[in-house]
Amino acid sequence: MTAEIISIEGLTYQYALTDKPALLDINLSVDRGEYLAIVGPCGAGKTTLALSMNGIVPHMMMGEMRGRVLVDGRDTTQGPVREMARTVGMVFDNPEFQLSQSSVLSEMALGLENIGVPREDMLQRITEALEIVGLSGFEERSPMALSGGQQQRLAIGAALVMYPQVLVLDEPTSNLDPIGKEEVFSVAARLNEEHEITIVIVEHEVEVVASYADRVIIMDGGSIVSSGGPSAVFTDVDNLRRVGVRPPQVTEIASGLAKRGCTLTTIPVTLDEAEAEFSDWA
Ligand SMILES: Nc1ncnc2c1ncn2[C@@H]1O[C@H](COP(=O)(O)OP(=O)(O)OP(=O)(O)O)[C@@H](O)[C@H]1O
Ligand SMILES: [Mg+2]
Repeated sequence: MTAEIISIEGLTYQYALTDKPALLDINLSVDRGEYLAIVGPCGAGKTTLALSMNGIVPHMMMGEMRGRVLVDGRDTTQGPVREMARTVGMVFDNPEFQLSQSSVLSEMALGLENIGVPREDMLQRITEALEIVGLSGFEERSPMALSGGQQQRLAIGAALVMYPQVLVLDEPTSNLDPIGKEEVFSVAARLNEEHEITIVIVEHEVEVVASYADRVIIMDGGSIVSSGGPSAVFTDVDNLRRVGVRPPQVTEIASGLAKRGCTLTTIPVTLDEAEAEFSDWA
């Protein structure tokens, strides 16, 4: 078993009827168990990259692809999306568009029915997944009557029953209130820490990215312009500014102070780091 669960080699993708590629020579490996965040301005190619990770790009889009994407060693162009989706689950930004059934139970069962999982196994998988996303007891509820945070947790649950190795989340909290956001981020973190599920998340909230991600990539104009641990990526404030990504607030303050001549041992990227850095200032 290789360390990489997803391996992207020289991936260039151009949608039909557009005049420039959405992705330009992307090389990226995602390790098993990693929590990878993708950040970047509108139109940078984040969604296109996310969609390439289970074959939706190129299978379900009109366009031209060069290079290759391997998911657990299998080339995404060689199998149907429903095969890849068993390894790589996807959760999108708008919960309502992903939910189609009249009850939580049937929503959770849908994917399993499609792959012919026996009924007893289905119930067990669903019970487990509902427990993980904190929706036990919601089986008979209508998905449309849930809060946004609950709907997104249901979408995550519906992906989890397939026993994926990777969960790709594309701005999963952009339509949620602060409580819903926190619910989704903590479920994703738990999946990564306790269930060893690889997380790839496209996310605007740099504070969240800084505290959860093992690695951050910044995209701009279809390319990866920066990649590394949150500290390395988010303290390069000038680079972030160039592509139009806001640094975490604590990083902005600290780097402003450093520019004005304050001596800091580190530039923090999370609140905890900032507290440690500034604790003896009081
Ligand atoms: N279905 C499509 N057909 C044609 N062009 C597309 C399509 N989807 C995206 N694009 C174009 O591809 C480029 C990358 O778009 P993509 O949606 O991947 O960016 P993004 O980083 O996810 O942006 P956002 O932050 O707005 O979600 C953009 O120029 C966009 O206009
Ligand atoms: Mg997008």
